[in-house]
Amino acid sequence: MNGWQGLIKEYKDFLPVTENTPFLSLMEGNTPLIPLEKISQPLGIKLYVKYEGANPTGSFKDRGMVMAVAKAKEAGSSAIMCASTGNTSAAAAAYAARANLRCIVLIPNGKIAMGKLAQAMMYGAEIYAIDGNFDRALEMVRNLSDIAPITLVNSVNPYRIEGQKTAAFEICDQLGQAPDVLAIPVGNAGNITAYWKGFKEYHDLKATGLAEMHGFEAEGAAAIVQNQVIENPETIATAIRIGNPASWELAVKAAQESGGNIDSVTDEEILSAYQLLAKQEGIFAEPASCASIAGVLKSVANGKIKQGATVVAVLTGNGLKDPETAIHTASFEPTVLPADQDIVFEHILGKKP
Ligand code: F0G
Repeated sequence: MNGWQGLIKEYKDFLPVTENTPFLSLMEGNTPLIPLEKISQPLGIKLYVKYEGANPTGSFKDRGMVMAVAKAKEAGSSAIMCASTGNTSAAAAAYAARANLRCIVLIPNGKIAMGKLAQAMMYGAEIYAIDGNFDRALEMVRNLSDIAPITLVNSVNPYRIEGQKTAAFEICDQLGQAPDVLAIPVGNAGNITAYWKGFKEYHDLKATGLAEMHGFEAEGAAAIVQNQVIENPETIATAIRIGNPASWELAVKAAQESGGNIDSVTDEEILSAYQLLAKQEGIFAEPASCASIAGVLKSVANGKIKQGATVVAVLTGNGLKDPETAIHTASFEPTVLPADQDIVFEHILGKKP
């Protein structure tokens, strides 16, 4: 029996936990670090994935949200709110349900994956879909939080970053030290900020070393790489369809301080990594997550990741979040057969029984 007690209890010494902080938990964290032997070998690196899709709502957002919602509860708040490309809304809604808080979410209409919408609906959030993108929705909730007593739980809330930094602690514990390289998708840029903070804090205490931070944006939403706000970001990876990342400067700082970089990958590269991961390694991660794998493939090819390096790619969300992209990408239909054993056998064995 696993004695894991969830992030707040496990990491209370590293988190802003007081005697008044509620021990809120869905037993988030403690996600697997999985070696990718088949993909590693031809690349000449040691590649692992941190499978954040194993969190209770299926993404890394649970780490930050448990902390942000516990602190909102501690402060006496009765409502939380976020803008979201989907995963933040699912996590916010789940923890709000557990903590008896009202949860308001603003999403870009038609641009969030079906599984994420289903989650927010089931957990009982108030959902507003605007005819605008994530950046516009974030602007609105930030403005609203200035005038209304509603706690903003996007990653501009510092407690989100605190919770999310614990993934870096886990990687150091799982590997025995920090990897040479951390590859991570970048959207609003909170997570790369959180990992860098986590690696630095753990190193200060336990001398675990520091990873180079390699962040990857989707090419159609690559504001940091292009050094300009993208007014109309577009990518198949809807989770990172963000044109004006809130933690822009912090992401640049993480990349620079660590000796890494921020680069972009095309939708084609993302979808090809998405399929490679599922078909060769049996791991199903949502498209945005696969920006990290696509980025590793690109960076090994262009020499930004060195031969022999130990690399951890963060798979931020579960593939089941976005069944539509999966079915569309796999591009074949099941063969429909009558419930007749002879016919089924004939198809499978390729000969008459
Ligand atoms: N991967 C997934 C699956 C995400 O959902 C997100 C962000 C990211 C990567 C990027 O992380 O924003 O910290 O750089 N999703 C947010 C949301 C924006 O609303 O769910 P980031």
